[in-house]
Amino acid sequence: MFKWLKKNRQLYPLVEEDIFNGKIPEHIAIIMDGNGRWAQKRSLPRVAGHHEGMKVVRKVTKLASHYQVKALTLYAFSTENWKRPKTEVEYLMKLPGEFLSSFLPELIEQNVKVRVTGDLSQIPEHTRKIVNKAIKDTSKNSGLVLNFALNYGSRTEIVHAVKEAISCIEKGEYTVDQFDEEKLTQCMMTYPLPDPDLLIRTSGEIRLSNFMLWQLAYTEFYFTDVLWPDFNEEHLIQAIKEYQQRGRRYGGV
Ligand code: FPP
Repeated sequence: MFKWLKKNRQLYPLVEEDIFNGKIPEHIAIIMDGNGRWAQKRSLPRVAGHHEGMKVVRKVTKLASHYQVKALTLYAFSTENWKRPKTEVEYLMKLPGEFLSSFLPELIEQNVKVRVTGDLSQIPEHTRKIVNKAIKDTSKNSGLVLNFALNYGSRTEIVHAVKEAISCIEKGEYTVDQFDEEKLTQCMMTYPLPDPDLLIRTSGEIRLSNFMLWQLAYTEFYFTDVLWPDFNEEHLIQAIKEYQQRGRRYGGV
């Protein structure tokens, strides 16, 4: 049994070895929602919720890594989030840097590979530098891929992918007739990650909010009322257990 599981058995009674008896999702994607409401309930500024949410990122990364999940995609900032008040946007932009500055050694120790899905060119330079350094420093790691969806929007991604495919056709790399789902998948920002097996959204909202619309076609959805800063290892295990009960047929019988 993992050292971590032994140590936390009392704290998290749901942490059982039997989770290994079922299929572990290879790719988990999470819409981390409810930070603002968490803060509001405590009469704290919204950014306090985001800061607390960052600590949860550490917890779920650790557990996903222990469960040998191959990829964990976290929706950290959407292309729509620029509409938020300037101070909140500035805070959210600093968070990936703060997270990586604090936890990069731990991620390296856990053999985690950091990557980003989204347009980094609009991200403030200090954050971009830290993120790029983390990507470089973990590039040889072979464990969990920790994929931050940062300045990411699915419709923009699809438009870019289609433009790239058109350019491939114009360059003669393939013909219109040869163009298929696999070729479009290869133009997506998430490539070569496999499609998520499990999508989790916290805070009781039941929508996708422009997140991985192409990649989630056959994904199992798990919605919980728990606000992201309250989400813990036990909640993640609950979601994986529910996933293990689902019958995936991909349109077959
Ligand atoms: C949605 O909650 C959450 C976000 C827009 C930001 C998510 C970011 C984090 C959890 C921290 C990121 C950490 C790292 C390491 C990058 P909301 O603010 O919309 O909540 P509300 O719906 O209750 O207002």
